[in-house]
Amino acid sequence: MMIDLHTHILMGIDDSNFDKESLLVALRNAEKEGVRKIFVTPHYVQFEVENSTQIISEEMAKLQALIKQENIDITLYIGAEIFVTLDLPMLLEQKKVPTLNHSRYILIEMPLGMVPRYMDLLIYQLCMKEYVPIIAHPERNVRIQKHPKYLQNFIEKGALVQMNAGSIMGDFGGRAKTAARLFLKHNMVHFIASDAHDAHHRPLKLLDAKNVVEKIMGKQDASSLFEHNAAAVILNQYIQTPDIKPIKRKWYSFGER
Ligand SMILES: [Fe+2]
Repeated sequence: MMIDLHTHILMGIDDSNFDKESLLVALRNAEKEGVRKIFVTPHYVQFEVENSTQIISEEMAKLQALIKQENIDITLYIGAEIFVTLDLPMLLEQKKVPTLNHSRYILIEMPLGMVPRYMDLLIYQLCMKEYVPIIAHPERNVRIQKHPKYLQNFIEKGALVQMNAGSIMGDFGGRAKTAARLFLKHNMVHFIASDAHDAHHRPLKLLDAKNVVEKIMGKQDASSLFEHNAAAVILNQYIQTPDIKPIKRKWYSFGER
């Protein structure tokens, strides 16, 4: 069984490029791959895309009804991919943004081209309020690709890491692929999800990546990343994570940035 922690499958309120037909095909394929639980995580960008918890849960209920009607054995869970802002603790307090299945876990997204200087402070503030931030696809961030210590620091401060299945397969380029594999080997990944947006370029697929990850780290550790840690999120349980193996070598192979 697999659980997909990060998807954009709510048509209409997200930047999803699925239509009803292609989404149902994708969901049936996901079911065949062994996915039984999927988080819907539409983008939340303060001042830009502010879908409320109520709107997301209404759209999710509609999609869940369709899935049931089509006899697909998949259960949906609420979430959002929240673009980082120092207002996030306040937004959570005011219940303006949903956590993952109403748990202490939240999925957060950084810009891809930089690491905001306030990330340390944000992670600290969230952890002080007993939230657990899960950083979406850091292997795609160009600063983190070059300086993985940023990510190591965030994990040591209490954040967890979600990696995209496509990154492992090379769908986001060689740098993301190299970073993805490096982070896996150094215990710096806690969830692998599809981040699906459409049927072709960013599909709802996990199994190919799972096969690769099993070769890198073995079946048992792979199952934590594709199922067990996400199951703990659903139940709002503590997630035991292995110690990071620090990345010692310098990271100049991509040239200066
Ligand atoms: Fe996403």
